[in-house]
Amino acid sequence: MRKTCAQGSAGQPATVENCDRPNSGLRTGLKPKMLKTNVHIQNTSNTRLNSLVDEMVALCQPDQVHWCDGSKEEYDLLCEEMVHAGTFIKLNEKKRPGSYLCRSHPGDVARVEHRTFICSKSKEDAGPTNNWSDPVEMKETLQQIFKGCMRGRTMYIVPFSMGPLGSDIAHIGVQITDSAYAAVNMRIMTRMGSQVLDILGDSSDFVPCIHSVGAPLEPGQKDVAWPCNPDKKYIVQFPEDREIWSYGSGYGGNALLGKKCFALRIASVMAREEGWLAEHMLLLGLESPQGEKTYIGAAFPSACGKTNLAMIIPPEGFEGWKAWTVGDDIAWIKPTADGQLRAINPEFGYFGVAPGTSDKTNPNAMKLVKSNTIFTNVALTDDGDIWWEGMTDEAPAHLIDWQGNEWTPDCNRPAAHPNARFTAPASSCPTLDPAWDDPKGVPISAFIFGGRMSHTFPLVFQSYSWNHGVYLAATMGSEATAAAENQAAVRRDPMAMLPFCGYNMADYWGHWLSIENKVKEPPLIFRVNWFRKDKNGKFIWPGFGQNIRPLAWIIERIRGRANAIESPFGYMPKYSDLNWSGLGFHAEEFSELMKVDRESALREIDDQKNLFDGFGSRVPLALLDQQKNVRDRVEKASGIWDPEA
Ligand code: GTP
Ligand code: SPV
Ligand code: MN
Repeated sequence: MRKTCAQGSAGQPATVENCDRPNSGLRTGLKPKMLKTNVHIQNTSNTRLNSLVDEMVALCQPDQVHWCDGSKEEYDLLCEEMVHAGTFIKLNEKKRPGSYLCRSHPGDVARVEHRTFICSKSKEDAGPTNNWSDPVEMKETLQQIFKGCMRGRTMYIVPFSMGPLGSDIAHIGVQITDSAYAAVNMRIMTRMGSQVLDILGDSSDFVPCIHSVGAPLEPGQKDVAWPCNPDKKYIVQFPEDREIWSYGSGYGGNALLGKKCFALRIASVMAREEGWLAEHMLLLGLESPQGEKTYIGAAFPSACGKTNLAMIIPPEGFEGWKAWTVGDDIAWIKPTADGQLRAINPEFGYFGVAPGTSDKTNPNAMKLVKSNTIFTNVALTDDGDIWWEGMTDEAPAHLIDWQGNEWTPDCNRPAAHPNARFTAPASSCPTLDPAWDDPKGVPISAFIFGGRMSHTFPLVFQSYSWNHGVYLAATMGSEATAAAENQAAVRRDPMAMLPFCGYNMADYWGHWLSIENKVKEPPLIFRVNWFRKDKNGKFIWPGFGQNIRPLAWIIERIRGRANAIESPFGYMPKYSDLNWSGLGFHAEEFSELMKVDRESALREIDDQKNLFDGFGSRVPLALLDQQKNVRDRVEKASGIWDPEA
């Protein structure tokens, strides 16, 4: 680790020893513990990185620079400093060992899509679904707003690898941030620290990820627990330069730049150039009682069930089945030279939605967060533990809510923010797949796409072809969640990538179409919907562990052993094609879940057409053909199409 003061004596490299200015610990009221106990100097010889750091120090003017080595000792010290600063609350060591609660600023709780920019040279390359800004102008703007933005703060240099260290599939990034919260979260979410610098060596092949909370501290000014900039936020990707700049927010997707900014927005551009896929997908291995293992990738929009499905536990009736977690949010998927599609999880931990997680819905996640977890915006119990809506049937009689206020069950506001999150290491996951860290990745046999749709869409169906599958994925719609601010009530979220595709979505669809020819046996493509509701507004499908029933049908389809019938939307199972052992779910309920209403399907197709119209002539012809086919099929259907009729 190298720790330097940013303003060194003239003509000398800045170090703690020759620092002219008082350290920020004193100025911000922090204990200067890191300085005393954890200083040793590690110079990287990497020219590009050193000049980047020099440039950023000159621009951002931090008080100190800290090179993260990724050690446990460093993590513990940073957490301790944050406890001292009031950013973290140490949880009860007996109940929740090694864990912390953090409360964000109430205005900094989710991704900010309207402040997220794709700055490709040409506006058309960003496409109509991304905010575009001219890269030269944006860089000038950023130079202005980053000027002096780290005054009074420490700049952390966070080298990280997305994917197994040294793997051919992995890519390196370096986050430069003034947020200790981001630095410790990055240690959980990525392979982070000195080993990454060793692997990088003198190579210039890394993605600069510049991040500031945008809240400089003037001399004498006291820091707040969650610094951010409530008025000015910029989450900016430069796809051609492969650079990320993020300003004003400390929240996950805006501040942990390895995740959505790099592993999806920048990586999707790299993937298109190089012939692979960077997707918003969980990766799951399902093992039958006979020991047959099948891996699937599944894309659901934010807060629509990826973490839950990635950690599914086979329910009663599925004795002998095992489910193995590879990843819960992002997949990098590459065709091999011999025509297989293999996937890795580039992350190292999980940044999961807390509300709704319980021993009933996701027991694996409850075990995962038993220790060594950072909780953001959940409620605090009187005995120093955490709680959120849905964790238990009955709420505790008294809590401190996510904003630090007294809370009782009758006070009519949620105790945890709906987008409250946990950050936990993958190594704590009880169902972690033995191959999860394999640099070669796991072979993918099916892709599953699913939105949150309270109407129109059946529980499960299969595409008629690869192109039809790409169409189904590209036109996926979903209802709003708390994962991003200002979402429309229902929106098209192609491949669950609407907020994450770093280039023109129509070109992305074309790229997906081209993958079919790169593999010997292209994965089958399915749509699922766990969220259909009855006329009383209740979910028809029990979901969670029961989702293995449609998954088992999917596996049987892959293996060529299950029946299906043709429907207007695709191949569908009949009631008798699913295994119902252990669950009382009747054929009439199944009909309710599966039927296709001609009128609402036609409205849906009209809206899908609106989506395509927005992309003009860039939409691949193969998808327009698919659109025509689906309209023909639906128009031919009688009023209500029912698989059981
Ligand atoms: P991101 O981390 O934002 O990408 O979300 P995600 O896709 O991983 O979603 P997650 O698994 O965290 O689930 C989000 C919410 O949906 C939670 O409140 C879950 O309890 C709920 N949920 C997940 N699976 C199901 C399901 O099968 N049925 C129902 N009704 N709710 C579900
Ligand atoms: C999502 O919103 O899809 C998440 C959380 O997984 S974030 O890291 O904020 O993007
Ligand atoms: Mn996600």
